[in-house]
Amino acid sequence: MNRLEGLVQTTTLNNGVEMPRLGLGVWKTNNTSAKESVKESIIKGYHLIDTAKQYGNEAGVGEGIKEGLAATGKNRKDLFITTKVFNGDQGYQSTLDALNGTLKRLDLTYIDLYLMHWPVDGKYLDTWKAMEKLYHQGKVRAIGVSNFDNDRLQDLLNHCEIVPAVNQMEFNPINQEKDIMAFNSHAGIQLEAWSPLGGGEALNNPTIKQIADKYNKSVAQVILRWDWQKGVVTIPKSSHEERIIQNSDIFDFELSDQDIQAIDALDQAKRSLWYPDFEWHTTGQMTDTVDQWDDSPKNYKD
Ligand code: A2P
Repeated sequence: MNRLEGLVQTTTLNNGVEMPRLGLGVWKTNNTSAKESVKESIIKGYHLIDTAKQYGNEAGVGEGIKEGLAATGKNRKDLFITTKVFNGDQGYQSTLDALNGTLKRLDLTYIDLYLMHWPVDGKYLDTWKAMEKLYHQGKVRAIGVSNFDNDRLQDLLNHCEIVPAVNQMEFNPINQEKDIMAFNSHAGIQLEAWSPLGGGEALNNPTIKQIADKYNKSVAQVILRWDWQKGVVTIPKSSHEERIIQNSDIFDFELSDQDIQAIDALDQAKRSLWYPDFEWHTTGQMTDTVDQWDDSPKNYKD
């Protein structure tokens, strides 16, 4: 399979919606850079773009989408856009309102996948009710969660009308979240990896480097191929054109079972330092802002 054929491969979510299996992430990317990466990725054949209100770059992503579609002649329906409701907007009415702001910044009429960015204790059930309403209204084609551990996911499952389609977690060779993966898979929830490349530690791993050399591929490509073969959807972030291409050039080789097992064995259950558990959001370590990487001269606020 070549690169472009790989980029149109989808997984069928539990509501029947087809979601591309590999896309572009834009965390820690300002509006200008997000616009360029998104446009470039669409030109290079990507269909899945993942952003969030909290990234402060929905407006740049929206512009990138417009420019990418204009450059390729593709239509909105050829793309699959994910964004997320952040902590400060959680609760029933505020979640409904938040989507309007998000649609305005992105300049879109609907979202393909709307995720709850973090489970805010005491609010996530009300937030989910609002997301179910948005789904019924047709403003979002699928709804899911992010950063839900098994206890909170079980609680949500006990109360929800619609089972989340996706759980987006930090997932990479150093942090494989095996219990969460098993729970999600059992519940029919698609696992999606944020930070699939795992920062420096995974990219510098000598075991993966050895495997990469054998296939004449980069470490990043081997990690993304490992995700692919495990059925995990990935959204590697890159602001560099050659890496945007490289990260999607993973369809002309196949890792052996032995290689997969060697990478599986690298798990240290080691999450990124900034969230040692799933409760950081109640500690106020991160404010709810669309400004943090916002370099845009325009005013995109709600
Ligand atoms: P850059 O944007 O400068 O290319 P993740 O999505 O796992 O969080 O990883 C993102 C980080 O990995 C970014 O710092 C990105 O840097 C870098 N990165 C993305 N693709 C590659 C690649 N193919 N090789 C090395 N580093 C990469």
